[in-house]
Amino acid sequence: AVTQETATEAPKKPVLPDAQKVLEVKHWTDRLFSFKVERPASLRFRSGEFVMIGLMGDPHPETGKQKPLLRAYSIASPSWGEEMEFYSIKVQDGPLTSKLQHIQPGDDIILRPKPVGTLVHDALIPGKRIWFFATGTGFAPFASLLREPETYEKFDEVIITHTCREAGELTYGRELIESLKDDELLNEVIGEGFWKKIKYYPTTTREESAKMGRITDLMKSGEAFADLGVEPLNPETDRAMICGNLAFNLELKDLFENTYGLEEGANSKPAHYVVEKAFLD
Ligand code: A2P
Repeated sequence: AVTQETATEAPKKPVLPDAQKVLEVKHWTDRLFSFKVERPASLRFRSGEFVMIGLMGDPHPETGKQKPLLRAYSIASPSWGEEMEFYSIKVQDGPLTSKLQHIQPGDDIILRPKPVGTLVHDALIPGKRIWFFATGTGFAPFASLLREPETYEKFDEVIITHTCREAGELTYGRELIESLKDDELLNEVIGEGFWKKIKYYPTTTREESAKMGRITDLMKSGEAFADLGVEPLNPETDRAMICGNLAFNLELKDLFENTYGLEEGANSKPAHYVVEKAFLD
């Protein structure tokens, strides 16, 4: 608590509103990086939600005033995590990410402590199998949900597909999935071997890799289901979350609604699947 005396003392230097300290930064490719920041003590969120984060913008040329430059970022860490992790694209002329990509441990970023979002378990009705569909940095909310015990309590099988242009863009996701085997909390809460419930299906579209093609095309041809050894999605058993670029989200929505017969859910009306746009600066 702030005492009367300290509250009236003038701050020595301007402090960012909702400042959080950067703890760690990892660069994955020339287009992708992830970072961890301190978690505000009072911040509660549900795995899969997003918050607004950013930096102060450049001073206004005439008034010199600075305004915060904020974007919606999925929280990549789970609800129980001590730190908050984010996974971001770097766009060289992107208003925010051209600057954000240079943050270092010890720097402050702005984090508005108001988590929201539709990629949450509350927005889905019970089922047997859950699918996570991501492109690019759309993997972030699933990095949270894959570390969330509720995912394994609620579903017998978890299938994560990730489509990227190049093979190097899959590394963050692949390492995260590999790390689940050694996750003490999940092993304790869910039971050893919980990670055997996970099927991982990475694909690339512009560089050679073990599996090439857009996940949408691989589903339409039946190849993805044959590779995974599962039946196509079915409203009786399957639930899904989508997070990718707009064209991908729309194509999957169309496939879900018109081919597989799934209905879109929301926090206020849970159903078979939910969708959210991945942030692109
Ligand atoms: P592609 O290389 O064929 O465009 P981006 O970096 O542009 O957001 O794309 C990320 C990945 O999503 C790329 O592999 C891209 O494939 C793929 N993608 C883009 N649009 C669609 C779509 N409508 N359906 C499936 N995948 C898509």
